[in-house]
Amino acid sequence: MEMENTDPLAEWQPCSIGARVLRYARVSSTQDVARRLIQEGIPNIAAVIAGYQTAGRGRFGRAWVAPPGTCLLVTYPIPLPKNASFPLAMLSFAAGLCVALAVEELAGIEVGLKWPNDILISGKKASGVLIEAALDAGGRGVALVGIGVNGNVTRFPGALDGQATSLLRETGRVWDLDALERTVRAHLEREVRRLYTDGHDRLLAEWRSRDRTGGARYRIRGADGGQEGSAVGVSDTGALILLLDGGSRMEVMSATALRPVGSGEGGVG
Ligand code: BTN
Repeated sequence: MEMENTDPLAEWQPCSIGARVLRYARVSSTQDVARRLIQEGIPNIAAVIAGYQTAGRGRFGRAWVAPPGTCLLVTYPIPLPKNASFPLAMLSFAAGLCVALAVEELAGIEVGLKWPNDILISGKKASGVLIEAALDAGGRGVALVGIGVNGNVTRFPGALDGQATSLLRETGRVWDLDALERTVRAHLEREVRRLYTDGHDRLLAEWRSRDRTGGARYRIRGADGGQEGSAVGVSDTGALILLLDGGSRMEVMSATALRPVGSGEGGVG
């Protein structure tokens, strides 16, 4: 009798020689391409990278727009465990942390993180993470970890200019986006393996040491609509802790339950 392989990452080797790193000049969204390839059963997809997206998307249903050839636009398909011993939100914490670790390693600059997964430099958004779920050809769950990094953008349109930044702007040099991607991927492989084997305590501690969430303002969607509050931190399960204007505290697990108020959320331009 064949034993079921219980290690969800057994066939996930994103930094191995045999890994498929797929590069496209132009796609609708790397999320869509990755989803299709995964559904078709193409093995060993480590990364789907694009030079340009015609329909790039961010969180809160927003567009993610980046001028051709200027940004890292990548999706990493990561197999999901059947019964995770950690909150799945930790995958998005891992992704944000890995972009921070890569930029710190390559540029030696300080990088901040804002719940759930914005990457900030000098208080401005330099990168964002979007996680979507997919099923592979065998019906197994896969997280599509989409990352956009404002690499060599020189100018942002309109109000975004005060809210977004790029690696070029912060470091004064043109970035090798392939080298950045390889570095992010290497960190991601290590952090995800640690998360799956040891749980999320270490990851959360690393994330919190860069946390710039405090003070951000949010409005709650749905039944409680209209209520606003200020973020005070992140709980042990990865929920945002909000101090509502009425004085009560609330934990919010999903960013889709919230609307940022007057912040720089959104795409590059
Ligand atoms: C955010 O709203 O902050 C998340 C932005 C995520 C953008 C990336 S770019 C690569 C991947 N493909 C997409 O369409 N979106 C993600």
